Amino acid sequence: MMSGARNSQTAPHPKTLVTKWISLVAGTFLLIATCGWLDAVKDRWYVLDPTSLHELAQAAIASSPNDTAGMIGHIVSNLTATYPSTTISLNTNSSEWVFNNAGGAMGAMYIIHASITEYLFIFGTPLGTEGHTGRLTADDYFHILVGEQWAFSPGQLEMERYLPGSVHYLPRGTVKQYKMHEGCFALEYARGWIPLMLPFGFADSFTSTLDMPTLYQTVRITVRETLQNLLTGKI
Ligand SMILES: *[C@@H]1O[C@H](CO)[C@@H](O)[C@H](O)[C@H]1NC(C)=O
Ligand SMILES: *[C@@H]1O[C@H](CO)[C@@H](O)[C@H](O)[C@H]1NC(C)=O
Ligand SMILES: *[C@@H]1O[C@H](CO)[C@@H](O)[C@H](O)[C@H]1NC(C)=O
Repeated sequence: MMSGARNSQTAPHPKTLVTKWISLVAGTFLLIATCGWLDAVKDRWYVLDPTSLHELAQAAIASSPNDTAGMIGHIVSNLTATYPSTTISLNTNSSEWVFNNAGGAMGAMYIIHASITEYLFIFGTPLGTEGHTGRLTADDYFHILVGEQWAFSPGQLEMERYLPGSVHYLPRGTVKQYKMHEGCFALEYARGWIPLMLPFGFADSFTSTLDMPTLYQTVRITVRETLQNLLTGKI
């Protein structure tokens, strides 16, 4: 008798159950529709553009041959002169480098800009590295400043070769194996959904390097820059 009484109290009324399922399905559709809409309109939040960045990377190489620090200085001072701080927040501290391990490759990066829809940083290593590009949720433009980057996709029997001044464009959702055969530094620009890229960027820290201070610094800088951009209205 006791258990029967409890059942009649806790078993949901059939009508409540139907309402629950309808809300769940409606909620899921609403979420999918919202994500679809956000994805369709994300372009309006972009401030930087691939064409100007490509020109800037080429100008930086021309103005400071054989001088990587000079190229980086050229890029940062051009960007701060071009974009008012009310439009986009940029990290001008070019001493702020952190290690980056992702997809099996290792290098260091200096984050110039991080927001919800755009990411701009210098990535490279004087030693060379090799790995998986990651199946990113953003379009990626890899502007070679110094050295060479090699890449290939399954089925290709010859490698693609990217030299200083060229840009390796990797559309959202596509993957390659890449190698910086020897020392190579690049200006990397990603536009799309940056927060969804981060799990790939951080996975190696948990499964391989266990380098928590580096992980902490990377998260700290990325969150700081993203918040500063949100405060200036840059999504
Ligand atoms: C920034 O660089 C671009 C590309 O080289 C150039 O056209 C532009 O004039 C530069 N802007 C400033 C403010 O230096
Ligand atoms: C750059 O460095 C290479 C090798 O160190 C040298 O051969 C070349 O002449 C240098 N170029 C300039 C413009 O300094
Ligand atoms: C720039 O970054 C370096 C390394 O993180 C740090 O030691 C230095 O205090 C920073 N400088 C400024 C002005 O924030």
